[in-house]
Amino acid sequence: MRIVLGVAGGIAAYKAAHIIRRLRELDHSVKVVPTAHALDFVGAPTFEALSGQSVTTDVFDEVESVNHVRIGQEAELVIIAPATANILAKITAGIADDLLTATVLTTTAEVVVAPAMHTEMWLNPATQSNIATLRSRGVHVLDPAVGRLTGPDSGPGRLPEPEDIIDFALSAKDGSTPGGLSGRRIVISAGGTREALDPVRFLGNRSSGKQGIALAKAAHAAGADVELVAANIDSGLLTGLPENIAITPVESTLELQAAMRTAQPNADALIMAAAVADYRPVEATDSKMKKTGDEGLTLRLTQNPDILRGLVDERVGTQLIVGFAAETGDRATSALDYATAKFDRKGVDLLVFNDVSDDRAFGHDDTAVQIIASVDGQTKVGEEFHGTKDHVSQKVIAALTDQFAHVESTT
Ligand code: CTP
Repeated sequence: MRIVLGVAGGIAAYKAAHIIRRLRELDHSVKVVPTAHALDFVGAPTFEALSGQSVTTDVFDEVESVNHVRIGQEAELVIIAPATANILAKITAGIADDLLTATVLTTTAEVVVAPAMHTEMWLNPATQSNIATLRSRGVHVLDPAVGRLTGPDSGPGRLPEPEDIIDFALSAKDGSTPGGLSGRRIVISAGGTREALDPVRFLGNRSSGKQGIALAKAAHAAGADVELVAANIDSGLLTGLPENIAITPVESTLELQAAMRTAQPNADALIMAAAVADYRPVEATDSKMKKTGDEGLTLRLTQNPDILRGLVDERVGTQLIVGFAAETGDRATSALDYATAKFDRKGVDLLVFNDVSDDRAFGHDDTAVQIIASVDGQTKVGEEFHGTKDHVSQKVIAALTDQFAHVESTT
């Protein structure tokens, strides 16, 4: 495929080199169109050597080949990574004062932008309004990742990893992910529930909520109307999520269950990514528990409801229900066998299984999952996907999109 890679002037411009190399490995032709400022960060020879094509920034270069319209007309896909606040503002306004902006204005190909900038610039209403306008025109926007920025600061604004950008862009081109969920309402639970023991203590788990947040972003990027039911997620992780993702904060399992049940009647799909406490104290005390002495403390616990099972029992029409299973194997049974048994037991449409035998899941950025699905009454175990939680989430959302298509074709 003929891909134009626009590179704007930001420190993350160096990641464009990895994007070019990977796209070439996938047999695509890559025409790099940097802005003049991008060349302050990475030199033209790097882009030329990696892409095997000449690099110019100006509409007055190579005038005889009418570059400013030809490149856009010939492109089958345009990716801008990194996209600065400035380039986003220019393409929103339709400004065409260099080769990249002229290319964007002339192309009829899908345009994908991967913004990267400081958190303040990303959250600025001007940028957010430009992003909303671009999305409304069908431009595919990959939300920035949350993490370390150029300086010591950290927050939303980081350029996603090259693999994630490529996956997102290629699915934008084939229409399988971005836009594939438009008109669908997806409710996602994330984080970990906490069960109060007293006003200051709780029983909880180590789930950060990163996986559920990545899913919410992927579903949103695919055009869905998203509600995130957030169980005890650090506010720093929620900052910078697209504004139209509705966030419902909850603490305990019973609160999470109530929020999911409230959301269920209007949802096209429910995804239970939250780590749910299986037990809660029989009663929480109103005042702080005091030490009782050397004889130790016995807590009386009662089992929590299985929220996922309840959602399956109350399924509305052809609503899809997705569960997660973090499993460890033992001598007799593999982690995957436990997950497959859970898939059958829970009655879900998709189960996202990850093997946590080697402690890879909680709080880490990388993960590996297999998606178990029921296709025409048969249980199918998908191949294993490795990568960032963003990358894996795109795969889960693509599987969900496929499942919607499958259900529609059989009903
Ligand atoms: N889940 C749920 N309600 C619970 C426990 C889990 O909805 N009380 C959901 C989780 O969000 C996840 C799926 O069920 O999507 C599997 O979670 P897991 O803890 O692996 O399942 P359990 O039913 O607790 O299974 P196990 O018997 O292995 O503890």
